[in-house]
Amino acid sequence: MNSIEAKHDKLKNQANKCTKCALHKNRDKLVFYDGCLYAPIMFIGEAPGKNEDETGIPFIGRAGQLLRKFMFELGFKQEDFYIANTIKCRPPKNRKPQREEKASCREFLEKQIELINPKIIVLVGATALESFIDDKKLTITKARGRIFDIKGRKFIPIFHPSYLLRYHSTEAGQPRFLFKQDLKTIKELIK
Ligand code: URA
Repeated sequence: MNSIEAKHDKLKNQANKCTKCALHKNRDKLVFYDGCLYAPIMFIGEAPGKNEDETGIPFIGRAGQLLRKFMFELGFKQEDFYIANTIKCRPPKNRKPQREEKASCREFLEKQIELINPKIIVLVGATALESFIDDKKLTITKARGRIFDIKGRKFIPIFHPSYLLRYHSTEAGQPRFLFKQDLKTIKELIK
């Protein structure tokens, strides 16, 4: 095992033992990551849902399947991405993560970013956006598709795929169309 893999394994084991917030008590599995440790793209979503909690894999439920479908349709490969969330344990009834929960988990997320060192970080949905870009007026609708340079890292917010589950149209200007456009921007950035 090389040093990135060993460090990543160690970090995951530490997260598995974490008791900093109450969410560890009711979770089934820790949801730490999926994908490739050497990926140029890191997706950061909100929090694990039921399917993720059962499997330990982020973005494995309906919304995640839609994200993956779009990615593969556009020619991305499994080795192009690493997926994580702002928190690693499922909140009860899929409620939004609370500020303290995100703060408790942040150390793990920061270390994941440091280790993976991606070319671009994709903020999936409003919760991830708020966690990295401190601008209360900036909604996901305004921010999506824009590239933000923060402390030497590139971030691009996109709609959360769960939003697309409610909007099926692929016509120009519709959420699915914009989502695809943003994924194409990401493809250009990793070329
Ligand atoms: N939604 C998220 O934000 N993350 C997941 O892992 C699954 C659904």
